[in-house]
Amino acid sequence: MENAIEIRDLTKSFHSVLTGEDVIAVDHLTLDIHRGEIFGFLGPNGAGKTTTIKMLLGLIFPTSGTASILGYPPGDIEVKRKISYLPESPYFYEHLSGYEVLDFYATLFGIPAAERKKKVDELLDLVGLSDNKHKRLRHYSKGMLQRIGLAQALINDPDLLFLDEPTSGLDPIAHLDIRDMILRLRDEGRTVFLSSHQLSDVEMVCDRVSILDRGKLMRVGSLKEMLAGKSVEIRAERVRDDIFEKVKAHSSDAFTVDGAIRVRVEQSFVNETVQMIMQTGGEITAVIPGKRTLEDIFIETVREGTVS
Ligand SMILES: Nc1ncnc2c1ncn2[C@@H]1O[C@H](COP(=O)(O)OP(=O)(O)O)[C@@H](O)[C@H]1O
Ligand SMILES: [Mg+2]
Repeated sequence: MENAIEIRDLTKSFHSVLTGEDVIAVDHLTLDIHRGEIFGFLGPNGAGKTTTIKMLLGLIFPTSGTASILGYPPGDIEVKRKISYLPESPYFYEHLSGYEVLDFYATLFGIPAAERKKKVDELLDLVGLSDNKHKRLRHYSKGMLQRIGLAQALINDPDLLFLDEPTSGLDPIAHLDIRDMILRLRDEGRTVFLSSHQLSDVEMVCDRVSILDRGKLMRVGSLKEMLAGKSVEIRAERVRDDIFEKVKAHSSDAFTVDGAIRVRVEQSFVNETVQMIMQTGGEITAVIPGKRTLEDIFIETVREGTVS
């Protein structure tokens, strides 16, 4: 499959004036983003998401490594026309109305006056702000500002969009709206690079996801495959302590509740576990195929690397 973005060994370290030490914000990141997909770039705060995006946009230079965006080096003038960026906290002129802001950006992109009005009205309609287009941004809610941000990111009809935490700080309804808009972008054939720490959003819209932790890529893959956990939960009662200990050794997750046990084991270990429990006087009360959420995976992944 053709790649929209290719990242090879990308590294960025910052020198901290405060501590006199170097902080490695992005650590030898290698990653491909396919054309036409919504790619989720997940990670806790400080993981290096924004730093990565800024390098891909050519706003800051990597310490080492390379990246190619739609076949061009970051910051190339050709590629700037084809991509857009919604920053984490977009800054807008708050004394302007929604219409005026979009008109301003349309002018920056050299859209002729004759087409501008139509384009701006179309975008306002797309993000559901037609009724509020003459209101000043000062009076917009956070969700409305985020929609204006998205409209602004669409002015140049980009092939590839970088959205940095587009739903942070939004109420649930505004979340849904933004999510729907992101899905629509993909339907229109665009590639979306979506950075977020909001797992539920990523879970609902992304085709593939990656998890970044302290600058390092911990996981990457199709969301479907990641969520199709192969583990099975076994619940049982009257399990002997020594048997529980044995089972625990093969389990990713084992605990007792009111004298009953719940253990999560790999598919391949289910028969053996059930037999062991039954042959020693235990009673199986349930065998439940595992269903994982992205949150489970995220916590597992980020915790694994955490020294605590
Ligand atoms: N300009 C900078 N100078 C020094 N440190 C920075 C700078 N920008 C980011 N960092 C550090 O790099 C790490 C990654 O930050 P960032 O990319 O903003 O993470 P995220 O977007 O995932 O929350 C953090 O430890 C942050 O403090
Ligand atoms: Mg960030």
